[in-house]
Amino acid sequence: MTHPVWPLFDLQVRTPRLELRYIDDEMATELALLAAKGIHPPDFMPFAMPWSEEPSPQLERNTMQFYWRCRAELSPAKWNIPLAVLVEGAVVGTTGLITHDFQVLRTFETGSWLGREHQGAGIGKEMRIATLHLGFLGFGAQRATTGAWEDNGPSLGVTNSLGYVANGHRAAVRKGIECSERRFEMMRDDFLTRLRRDDITVSGVDDCLALLGLEPTDG
Ligand SMILES: CC(C)(COP(=O)(O)OP(=O)(O)OC[C@H]1O[C@@H](n2cnc3c(N)ncnc32)[C@H](O)[C@@H]1OP(=O)(O)O)[C@@H](O)C(=O)NCCC(=O)NCCS
Repeated sequence: MTHPVWPLFDLQVRTPRLELRYIDDEMATELALLAAKGIHPPDFMPFAMPWSEEPSPQLERNTMQFYWRCRAELSPAKWNIPLAVLVEGAVVGTTGLITHDFQVLRTFETGSWLGREHQGAGIGKEMRIATLHLGFLGFGAQRATTGAWEDNGPSLGVTNSLGYVANGHRAAVRKGIECSERRFEMMRDDFLTRLRRDDITVSGVDDCLALLGLEPTDG
């Protein structure tokens, strides 16, 4: 049954290996508990905000609040669409599309993490392709952007292996210290030519378009 009010709850992307689903409270709880089990070693912070270092149970509660905030603050002008990544029905991590002024800029940023036990097995690459598929083919984007700290090998590994174009560095603060974030972009035509796959399916997009300020022809 489709959700009568908030169509994003029915948004799904399926690949042969995994599924992306808009995060409801049940998946938010699973992600909060997964995050509390650990995402990275204690001496390496992959995120701009060191949210993952918060002690339990505050970490889990902050995680729930983050997903609620994404829903509460969504508008046509600004979206953060967080998606759970499921492998064989189990939540293993999250990916998401973040954007503002999409109707004009046609650009979205991606961000993601996996529980530690699920890393290093190709899920990161597959879930990035699925997220790009949603942005380019579901929402009609022209450009995808991403970034990672210059010492985040696995995240840069995903980005480089998918053939993004490097477009600079940005100085940013990581736990009070200046660090360099490497920035990348991928254009729609490049995605369509090299990465488009016919074994990936998206469902529930059409009903989300008006909520996101898009025309029916955008999806
Ligand atoms: C980043 C993350 C999502 C990547 O997912 P993953 O499943 O671990 O990555 P994959 O197994 O799909 O690996 C993708 C590519 O990176 C490469 N890679 C992995 N570790 C690497 C390293 N240390 N240095 C360089 N390349 C690396 C892999 O070889 C693979 O490339 P290939 O397909 O060409 O062989 C995951 O590691 C993670 O959640 N890390 C902690 C949180 C995080 O860093 N989030 C991103 C913040 S910007």
